[in-house]
Amino acid sequence: MNILVLVSGGGTNLQALIDAEQAGVLGGGVISAVISDRPGVYALERAKAAGIPAYIETPDRALPREDRRRELSDRLLRFAGKAGVDLIILAGFLSILEGEIITAYANRIINIHPSLLPKYGGPGMYGERVHRAVLAAGETESGCTVHLVDAGTDTGPTLIQKKVPVLPGDTPETLAERIHGQEHAALVEAAAMIAGRGNSSP
Ligand code: GAR
Repeated sequence: MNILVLVSGGGTNLQALIDAEQAGVLGGGVISAVISDRPGVYALERAKAAGIPAYIETPDRALPREDRRRELSDRLLRFAGKAGVDLIILAGFLSILEGEIITAYANRIINIHPSLLPKYGGPGMYGERVHRAVLAAGETESGCTVHLVDAGTDTGPTLIQKKVPVLPGDTPETLAERIHGQEHAALVEAAAMIAGRGNSSP
């Protein structure tokens, strides 16, 4: 199964997927390309170090704001089609996909989110903002969710959730770090589950 990984940041989730593929535990999945929606991020270096073709596809700022997501999504869909991609993994990808890619790859796009969805998801909830909101609400547990991507933001069916405790004295950074470890395991598990099933939709 041909896997495209989309990234926006440091790429620790991408690294977990690369390590899993190299260890032979990605269910036969092969990461054939990595695309970042921003230049200069460390995830691109991780891809290059692993010999995986890495590309940058940024939102087109010349377009009106309301057209940017759609245009980037369509560009990614064209890339995926040409490259024969079977599964798209959003591994810390902060652009929102919309339009035809959602239907063309229905049940074949997965996203990792750093909270126990449906809590602390939706527009504007990403990265550190999620952990700040969890701490401000006084939650005693948080975690991560791997879910199928549908037309909403963080709304698709859940594949895997992993929980961690919120500890007294936690900062967004300490909580993020605790959750990160669980994210890597959850994302590899979900990817292996889908890749192991072959090309048919889950
Ligand atoms: C991860 O914590 C991931 O859950 C989050 O971005 C981080 C990327 O880390 N994704 C979102 O917030 C998506 N809404 P990484 O670049 O080290 O994998």
